[in-house]
Amino acid sequence: MRIEYTRDSLTVSDLDPDPILQLAQWLDDATSAGEIEPSAMCLATSLDGRPSCRMVLLRDLNRWGLVFYTNYLSRKGLELEVNPHASVCFWWRGLERQVRVEGTVYRVDEEESDAYFASRPRESQVSSIVSPQSQVIANREDLELAASQITDTSRPEHWGGYRLKPDAFEFWQGRAARLHDRFRYSGGPAWVIERLAP
Ligand SMILES: Cc1cc2nc3c(=O)[nH]c(=O)nc-3n(C[C@H](O)[C@H](O)[C@H](O)COP(=O)(O)O)c2cc1C
Repeated sequence: MRIEYTRDSLTVSDLDPDPILQLAQWLDDATSAGEIEPSAMCLATSLDGRPSCRMVLLRDLNRWGLVFYTNYLSRKGLELEVNPHASVCFWWRGLERQVRVEGTVYRVDEEESDAYFASRPRESQVSSIVSPQSQVIANREDLELAASQITDTSRPEHWGGYRLKPDAFEFWQGRAARLHDRFRYSGGPAWVIERLAP
């Protein structure tokens, strides 16, 4: 099946000089368009030249970067501790748009992780506490039993945020006949915007 992308177009004059503001605009557009999980992004990490990727949710976006939360002892967490270079990719199907961001991750301040953890529903807090994310476990029952026994729901040390400080962005708008529009931002903070071939 070949899908034609005909919904929109993108020129340099459509783009904000600040890529963070441009990303914020496209996230708003995706939310308004009713995209499911508009803040979901595929996070690529890499160890010894072997990339791995998985979805995470963007939980904060400001001029310092993109924040997501996870288990620091998970596969992604351990990979990021060794190699902090990472990339994320958004895809909004209905809008026929893709954004990729590349940069370096840093752990967010403990207070910031505490504040976000405290804002989560209790069941999510409990799951983060009991799940040894990415490790082999014997069965589901042990996890559910451990979850039912939790009384203290303060943030565990192994769970918190990472901020991706971007050094490159690419905004992609699908076009007909695979002649898509692509623009790269590089060289921040005085960002240079260049059109790339599709
Ligand atoms: C839409 C979506 C959003 C997700 N969001 C998160 C998230 O914000 N944080 C997280 O740790 N895992 C999230 N997950 C689960 C991850 O994709 C992954 O299974 C988990 O983090 C373990 O990855 P790892 O073994 O590579 O560390 C999400 C999965 C999906 C499908």
